[in-house]
Amino acid sequence: MAHSLELSAAALGPVTAEESHILEKLDLERLPRHIAVIMDGNGRWAQKRHLPRVAGHRAGTQSARTTIETCARLKVEALTLYAFSVENWRRPKAEIEFLMQLLREYLRKEMPLIQRNNIRMRFLGRPDELPDGVRKDTREAMEATAGNTGMVLSIALNYGGRAEIVDAMNAILAERNGHGGAAVTEEQLSRHLYTANLPDPDLLIRTSGEMRVSNFLLWQIAYAEIFVTETLWPDFNRARLLEALVDFQGRERRYGGIDAPKTAAR
Ligand code: FPP
Repeated sequence: MAHSLELSAAALGPVTAEESHILEKLDLERLPRHIAVIMDGNGRWAQKRHLPRVAGHRAGTQSARTTIETCARLKVEALTLYAFSVENWRRPKAEIEFLMQLLREYLRKEMPLIQRNNIRMRFLGRPDELPDGVRKDTREAMEATAGNTGMVLSIALNYGGRAEIVDAMNAILAERNGHGGAAVTEEQLSRHLYTANLPDPDLLIRTSGEMRVSNFLLWQIAYAEIFVTETLWPDFNRARLLEALVDFQGRERRYGGIDAPKTAAR
């Protein structure tokens, strides 16, 4: 599709021969509105190279940067990255501290890219349990990008899907202030989730081959197309992302009905 190729070349800047080949198969008018990513496999990537696990996390920041910039340039509305789950506190203390430091460093270093791409930042999860410095930096990142009008980048940090639903229910109960009220609706619950105002993900990408949802966006992925790749997160480059988008466009989305729209598009 020559039209598509022209558009993409302009949006993405120089592309490799491999990317150009994949782009020929991609319709830029039918991209997912919201992409969610489980960035898995940093530890295995490092292990394969006889490096400490944390080297994998550091290498993973480059894949995060590429994914963020590519999605923003392709005008995807929302991108949500799973950076730290409520279960991740079970990891060794040194690894947790490294991840928290890496995130702070990342926010500082990537702010010019975030601003240049007109990205709004959000953080999904329970902030109360995060170290003070991390809370401060995440607050500042949200404030600094609040006026931007492009893609919403959400970083799931101290995030749990079940915790999110519990938090939403408690927020609804608190609003009612002990006065009962009508039955809770799906729409009302959605409005109280951390992702309020975002469309549900159309596409969930998981790297490194595990066939699990791992407590990520449990409510929101009800109808998401799931793409699992064996590629480890630090190896997930722009070509692999574009391949995931092509795969998405080949899916038949029926939302439980039988009258299938022809393509996976919005
Ligand atoms: C999973 O790999 C990855 C994480 C728990 C951390 C994710 C963090 C990054 C990719 C870097 C920072 C990114 C941002 C956006 C700041 P794993 O350790 O579970 O890998 P394994 O399953 O191979 O052990």
